[in-house]
Amino acid sequence: SLHTVTTMPTTRQPGCPFDPPKELTEARAHSPISRFPFPDGHQGWLVTGYDLVRSILADPRFSSRRELMRHHPLIDYGDIEVPPAPPGEFLLMDEPLHGRYRKPLVGKFTVRRMRQLTERVERITAEHLDAMEQAGPSADLVTAFAKPIPAIVICELLGVPYEDRDFFQEHIDRFLGGEVSDEELTASYLAVQRYLAELVAAKRANPTDDVLSDLTDGDLTDEELKGMALILLSAGFDTTANMLALGTFALLRNPEQLAALRADPALIDQAVEELLRYLSVAKQFFRVALEDVELGGHTITAGTMVILSLSTANRDPERFPDPHTLDVRRQNGGHLAFSHGVHQCLGQQLARVEMRVAFPALINRFPTLRLAVPAEEVALRPETADIHGVKSLPVTWDATP
Ligand code: HEM
Repeated sequence: SLHTVTTMPTTRQPGCPFDPPKELTEARAHSPISRFPFPDGHQGWLVTGYDLVRSILADPRFSSRRELMRHHPLIDYGDIEVPPAPPGEFLLMDEPLHGRYRKPLVGKFTVRRMRQLTERVERITAEHLDAMEQAGPSADLVTAFAKPIPAIVICELLGVPYEDRDFFQEHIDRFLGGEVSDEELTASYLAVQRYLAELVAAKRANPTDDVLSDLTDGDLTDEELKGMALILLSAGFDTTANMLALGTFALLRNPEQLAALRADPALIDQAVEELLRYLSVAKQFFRVALEDVELGGHTITAGTMVILSLSTANRDPERFPDPHTLDVRRQNGGHLAFSHGVHQCLGQQLARVEMRVAFPALINRFPTLRLAVPAEEVALRPETADIHGVKSLPVTWDATP
């Protein structure tokens, strides 16, 4: 039967900061695919079941092209024209253009190359833990730990010179963190754009040992390189930062899981996959049908927008037994937190290295780490944000004499 979800939920259940909004979980319980009328009247679809989400992500009949995404799930913009993604911004492109930008990057993000970064990530993490300890015994984990670590890693990857780090980190945080006015947002977006244009020119003139310099070898224009850098930055910073902060919150709220991880460090790889599944910070993505497609007993007509809910797919009981339980010993992989198909996260090995280093370093440095406020007072990002997370995470610990 045809199930309809009438509006996109804008809040989660009070007291359930890690669970998808209950309306989406209920929709999935009813049917893996529901009708979704967009506020502008467009009749779209909301896909919440694991198998269907995964198969649409792998299906070239569904497009990621920005110019086709003409409807917003929360806002009626009327009949708008959306321009195609700027050169190099391949997240919102299809083949063959998508491949032009992704292919030269694949070799830079292999498991082997990312493992080589482990030592650097360890050093960056240790420096931040030292600073926390000195300033402690309390901190906002977001500003002291979760944001700076991925920001520095991205800066090193792109070859942002040391003296520009603070400027750059501040602007990417404002531009991606979403907690500022529209004017500040635009100003920071433009500052980042200007900075990246200069950085690309500098790398072309004086290549150094980093991903951006390597790319100046090929036939990519400066404009394209700038777009690629922007995508690496936007895709890699906010996601990892929110995984670190929300992941720590989730571990602190599940003390038996935290204890298991402390007792058996070998669990870390599984624990990271489980946190990715359980938290699904990149909650949802959109696709547009390029032709009529028969799916789950329905016809998705050409031009229709489809909302793919990664967060409910990752809580599908048919795929993950007892899906709402955080279980760091869970064996079954296959979560969709990094998506699937041609757009599957390019930086996933890097993100894994960062999390596999940062979580254990944090919980071992502070064996008495705990929330400094009641859990209900931890401010969540609004559900309208693209990436789920906490605004801040006040923590404290017993100072060692
Ligand atoms: C794409 C999640 C970290 C670079 C994606 C997509 C997801 C995702 C869900 C696919 C979107 C789609 O299907 O349309 C995450 C999560 C991360 C993370 C949860 C952290 C835990 C990173 C890092 C980098 C990165 C550290 C690199 C520095 C990218 C890029 C794409 C991408 C370049 C676009 C791939 C393409 O369109 O071909 N990410 N990501 N991500 N991610 Fe990540």
